[in-house]
Amino acid sequence: MPVAPVPMLVDCDPGLDDAIALLTAAHFADLVGITTVDGNVGIDHTTRNALAVAQIAGLDVAVHRGASRPLTDQSRGARHVHGATGLGSVELPAITRSVESEDAVGFILESSHRVNGLHLVAVGPLTNVAEALQQDASLPERLSGLTIMGGAANGGNVTAAAEFNIWADPEAADIVFRLGGDITMVGLDVTQQVLLGPAQVDQMRTARKPAADLAAELLDYAIDRSSELRGWTGAPIHDACAVLAVTHPQLFHGKRQPVSIELTGTHTRGMTVVDDRGSYADSDANVRVLRTADADALIELIVEAATAVQ
Ligand code: BDR
Ligand code: CA
Repeated sequence: MPVAPVPMLVDCDPGLDDAIALLTAAHFADLVGITTVDGNVGIDHTTRNALAVAQIAGLDVAVHRGASRPLTDQSRGARHVHGATGLGSVELPAITRSVESEDAVGFILESSHRVNGLHLVAVGPLTNVAEALQQDASLPERLSGLTIMGGAANGGNVTAAAEFNIWADPEAADIVFRLGGDITMVGLDVTQQVLLGPAQVDQMRTARKPAADLAAELLDYAIDRSSELRGWTGAPIHDACAVLAVTHPQLFHGKRQPVSIELTGTHTRGMTVVDDRGSYADSDANVRVLRTADADALIELIVEAATAVQ
């Protein structure tokens, strides 16, 4: 019997890989809504980009605008990776859609009541999710899970110790990692194993569809940036991995461990401190930390999603 797609709400900051994650969610999950957050670029851009992806891909899904800055810190952005607008050098068409609301937090909470088995996938800084938990600590009881692209058991990308999404709002991440319930962390340990290259750009282009063309252009830009910044021949599409960790969990491996967020370290603010000692109580293991994945299978699935949508 076919299994019904997972109802999924994606909280995101598009962002090259966020945009491809939205296409992935639209294909493999039941995408019930998109909320936006300040992150890779400012909230005006992340929201416009989410609307643009939905429009180009013909998705019947509402976009709700969220936090315009981190809980306590200033907004920083990652324009050196994602470009000034967040979508690389893509020239977007005129956007004919508009946001459903300016209340991402309200939408997350309302959806958790309305949608049975809702899975929340957060692929940007955790500001909206933290605010939702602050307003209603019982949110996790109504979710089938909270999957986060963020953090790493080993090393960082924006600093030596920290991954961007956690570093961009560590206070929010701290709240979420303490109160978030059934959390799965899809960190750099996994996402940097899944590099898409020029062959995948070509596969996307041959589909000759608007969403696939968009994905190809975003991936092409990501590969250039990845080559320039890291010397890699492919680009990690981090956020799509988080979506696939929900829809294809059999392709990932990891275990529950204690994870805390470093808030004060001079060199380590925003680090996800993963206890690898193995001597902790089960009740302290607050997060399922994914470590490995079947990279080839994930790459194929991302291409499939990008070429399947309109
Ligand atoms: C994460 O940071 C952002 O720049 C990407 O969109 C992804 O969510 C990777 O560290
Ligand atoms: Ca992101």
